[in-house]
Amino acid sequence: MPNKPEPLSLIDRFGRRVNYLRISVTDRCDFRCLYCMEEAMTFLPRAQILTLEEIYTLAKVFSELGVEKIRITGGEPLVRNGILQLIERIGQLSGLKELVMTTNGSQLQKFAKPLSDAGVKRLNISLDTLDVEKFKVLTRNGELKTVLRGVEAAKNAGFQRIKINAVILKNRNHHEVIDLVQFAIEHELDISFIEEMPLGVVSQHDRYESFYSSNDIKKDLEQAFTLLSSTVQTGGPSNYFQVQETQTRVGFISPHSHNFCSSCNRVRLTAEGRLLLCLGNEHSVDMKQILRTHPGNQEILKQSIIQAMQIKPERHEFQLDEQPVILRHMNVTGG
Ligand code: GTP
Ligand code: 5AD
Ligand code: SF4
Repeated sequence: MPNKPEPLSLIDRFGRRVNYLRISVTDRCDFRCLYCMEEAMTFLPRAQILTLEEIYTLAKVFSELGVEKIRITGGEPLVRNGILQLIERIGQLSGLKELVMTTNGSQLQKFAKPLSDAGVKRLNISLDTLDVEKFKVLTRNGELKTVLRGVEAAKNAGFQRIKINAVILKNRNHHEVIDLVQFAIEHELDISFIEEMPLGVVSQHDRYESFYSSNDIKKDLEQAFTLLSSTVQTGGPSNYFQVQETQTRVGFISPHSHNFCSSCNRVRLTAEGRLLLCLGNEHSVDMKQILRTHPGNQEILKQSIIQAMQIKPERHEFQLDEQPVILRHMNVTGG
């Protein structure tokens, strides 16, 4: 009997297997976080963004190429019309082991239960501060109360795990790291602390001066908690510790102080259909153009994606003390 052919898989020039796709379904957002966007932003016109059908087709093709985890991001993914129907369909793709989402939490009172019913297993919710005024400053217009109610709704909706994401900026919210972990413990959540990445020009703070490293955060936390090293892997870049005698894991995402590119397993699809091979570089393939030039031809899509692996860069070269090299803001990729 001839051997069954190996399923297709995506391997780059450095032998890294890509099995995680992050899909940004919109570049729009109801917040304007200081580290993510400028106050006045121009968003993509409708005709330039992928339709829900096009996003589904690409998700399907990726899953047939060995992608087992899809994360839906934005901007804020829950402001895109029709998002639930898309998620329900993606959730039914055979081959997909995990469908997850990153959200700012503002719409969760309405969407938490339907998302969980549609097959979203884990949620990451951005929350950088527990102080009402600071929250308004950091998000430029967000309401802390709404997000906290969203977190509560998510807890009641039956997700396997919920993780808080906190971007920490020196002298803005670094004093709050212990309170944030305490909040996570009380609500039985995980939490990741993120070093800010220099994507796009931001004007309200100096990224170099605001840098607060994961090591500093860990030292602060150790004044209040015992952090036990952990081998937990979620397929993302967090390096996790278990807070002793609690359900909570604390993760550190340290693009500057602890580069994790050698284990990179992911690529990104932007709302306008660019397949972006690295968050910190501009190497990309225009999938929208291929989709619209060859409607219905999934073989061409597959070949283009396989070939794209050849241009996946080895690593990002983020420099906090220089003007950003990457001019796109974080809302284009949702992280
Ligand atoms: P899980 O591990 O699946 O829970 O998710 P995650 O932490 O990978 O995803 P999330 O969307 O919550 O992103 C958290 C932070 O990690 C964001 O600031 C992302 O920009 C950052 N991040 C995710 N992937 C990469 C990456 O490949 N490179 C860099 N530099 N940052 C990344
Ligand atoms: N650097 C690091 N993380 C960022 N995020 C948004 N902008 C940046 C940045 N410049 C975070 C958000 C969200 C996640 C997807 O990315 O807070 O939690
Ligand atoms: Fe919106 Fe997320 Fe960017 Fe904040 S970080 S402005 S919530 S996309």
